[in-house]
Amino acid sequence: MHSKIISAGHYLPEKALSNKELESLVDTSDEWIRQRTGIEKRHIAAEDEKTSDMAVKAAEMALKNAGLKGSDIDAVILGTTTPDRTFPATAVTVQDKIGMGDHGFGMDVQAVCSGFIYALSVADNFIKAGQIKRALVIGAEKFSNLLNWDDRTTCVLFGDGAGAVIIEATEDANTGILSTHLHSEGAQRDILCTDGGAGSTKTTGHVTMNGQEVFRHAVSRMSEVVAEALKANNITANDIDWLIPHQANKRIIDSTAKKMKLPPEKIVLTVQDHGNTSAASIPLAFSTAWNDGRVKKNDLILMEAMGGGLTWGAALIRI
Ligand code: ACO
Repeated sequence: MHSKIISAGHYLPEKALSNKELESLVDTSDEWIRQRTGIEKRHIAAEDEKTSDMAVKAAEMALKNAGLKGSDIDAVILGTTTPDRTFPATAVTVQDKIGMGDHGFGMDVQAVCSGFIYALSVADNFIKAGQIKRALVIGAEKFSNLLNWDDRTTCVLFGDGAGAVIIEATEDANTGILSTHLHSEGAQRDILCTDGGAGSTKTTGHVTMNGQEVFRHAVSRMSEVVAEALKANNITANDIDWLIPHQANKRIIDSTAKKMKLPPEKIVLTVQDHGNTSAASIPLAFSTAWNDGRVKKNDLILMEAMGGGLTWGAALIRI
């Protein structure tokens, strides 16, 4: 028994903030942001729009596309770094709002930009263990709340949004989630982090980052985990139909693809429109490609991410 993806949905807040608009907030330029990151705009949630609101909208789209109701779901596994509240988990708000009642359970997973890969792996393993049959796996972030809008080195990079997939148990060994690979290295926790938290400063803090160190680790760790996933499945990069990378920075994505010798036509790229939406980035990109028909039955998909922790991971999936 393992799991396969049967549907996907996503949501972006109404407000799109262009690089040009950012020029009036901090000392930056459209040209600098495009050249260094590939980002053209990012979406910013409304003041009263919470992470759970975005997660519910992505979940509802995935449910509608699958022809399912909330009560058909056994577990909500939600990757987020920006929960509505310190507790309870944002996933239980989603459980309530999509109409699951007290059926099944909801839990959050915290692995920052690798959050979706971690959440997918957790859900896949619950299904493999026979404990649940169907899960909503969500990545949702209101990352704009963690930004210091006076710090041009970080505030231009991130955005808000949510993406969701539904996975369900299958006995067909040829489709579905073929493998997931998770890693972390806590010794690197300070190169990308917030300067606060409920257990220390009693605040959420703001994002701080050593950009060049993060860049260096991102390229090497994501290449490593891609190689690990290919080797574990006895395939080569040539066999991949779509690379769906964490959408942090086009230069990081290009470097990983170059190491894999993967042509640009095989990469789903949304970073220009969304910026880095942390845990939401991969499901947002996946849902975009799933719903516009790029991703087709039998396609072999490789997802990979790296984020604060450092955490990193990959998932190989046959649709
Ligand atoms: N606008 C204009 N100038 C800026 C900006 C900005 N927004 N930010 C920094 N600069 C300036 C710097 O102050 C510096 O100026 P100086 O030379 O006068 O001191 C100059 O630009 C170069 O700064 P660097 O930090 O060397 O620029 P770099 O080429 O490394 O690019 C960047 C910075 C884009 C952050 C890059 O390091 C990067 O992409 N790192 C990865 C970060 C990332 O993606 N983090 C997301 C989370 S992790 C993940 O998701 C994988």
